[in-house]
Amino acid sequence: MNSKQVVLITGSSTGFGRLFTETLARKGHTVFATMRDPGGRNAKNAAEIRTLAEKDSLRIHVLEMDVTDDASVERAVDAAIAKAGHIDVAINNAGYYLSGLEEAVTTEQAQRLMDTNFMGSVRVNRAVLTHMRRQGSGVLMHISSGAGRVVVPSAGFYCASKFALEALAEAYSYELAAQGIESVIVEPGQYETPVFGNTVMAADQARTDTYGAAKEFPARVNGALSSTAGHAQEVADAVRRIIETPAGEKQLRYFVGPQDFGLNEINALAKRVQTSVLEAFGLAADTKFLEGKAVSSV
Ligand SMILES: NC(=O)c1ccc[n+]([C@@H]2O[C@H](COP(=O)([O-])OP(=O)(O)OC[C@H]3O[C@@H](n4cnc5c(N)ncnc54)[C@H](OP(=O)(O)O)[C@@H]3O)[C@@H](O)[C@H]2O)c1
Repeated sequence: MNSKQVVLITGSSTGFGRLFTETLARKGHTVFATMRDPGGRNAKNAAEIRTLAEKDSLRIHVLEMDVTDDASVERAVDAAIAKAGHIDVAINNAGYYLSGLEEAVTTEQAQRLMDTNFMGSVRVNRAVLTHMRRQGSGVLMHISSGAGRVVVPSAGFYCASKFALEALAEAYSYELAAQGIESVIVEPGQYETPVFGNTVMAADQARTDTYGAAKEFPARVNGALSSTAGHAQEVADAVRRIIETPAGEKQLRYFVGPQDFGLNEINALAKRVQTSVLEAFGLAADTKFLEGKAVSSV
């Protein structure tokens, strides 16, 4: 694979996606920065990215993509392929945080969250895999979270969406290894991005009001997360290092965070247990991606 890669990123309007776009483009990679509504609500963000690309001669192309819409995902992937001929890396980054006591989350809110944080990656992966299979290489990257490995009260649905994403990404890594396609998971801890301002709160106040002291969990958790948040460029630098790690040498999981909380320990244990499971099913030799790879932070 050429060391300069073609990368498609979801949710590039702000936060991590925006930083990944700039960080990767500054290293000479071609970036398809996808976002919702670049001609409307994200017009200012799209214009800033285009201006930057022009000023610094960066290979960045802004494309429209709503990850909850099959046709929108397919259109953006087709447009990227038409322009660059191939996609080396798809970064599934689009997502948002839903905060509140689980009983107070309406079914509609839960469905919308899963449709973005989980089904969004299902759609993007299905769209890009056809092309990656043809080229016999590619990387599916999934921006999960520390909350994809541990559970925080008042973040249960967000955790569920990231746990689901982790399961999907891990299964993909086993199934695609033989085709030369890698699936990797990045687990950021808490970082300063617009994510906290974009948080959706559980809507059913009447249910929340029955909870006594536990009513305060969302405020306490959100306060702790935002007051300990790290500098988001750390995650962008980690993503760049992962993308530039040669094929076959990447790990399945990368935790990147201001505090470890024991997440690297969970990942190391999970790797050992998974290896036993694969061996028990007689699949160890067919899932070479795990072989000889340590789980650690980058
Ligand atoms: N910051 C943290 O502490 C942290 C920690 C762990 C994991 N993460 C994960 O990192 C990812 C990026 O979040 P962030 O922190 O960078 O926050 P952010 O600035 O709010 O970025 C979220 C991005 O997702 C996009 N998005 C939401 N729904 C979408 C949809 N249906 N289609 C396409 N794009 C959509 C948003 O686009 P719009 O502008 O159109 O709304 C925005 O660009 C998320 O998956 C989040 O769960 C964040």
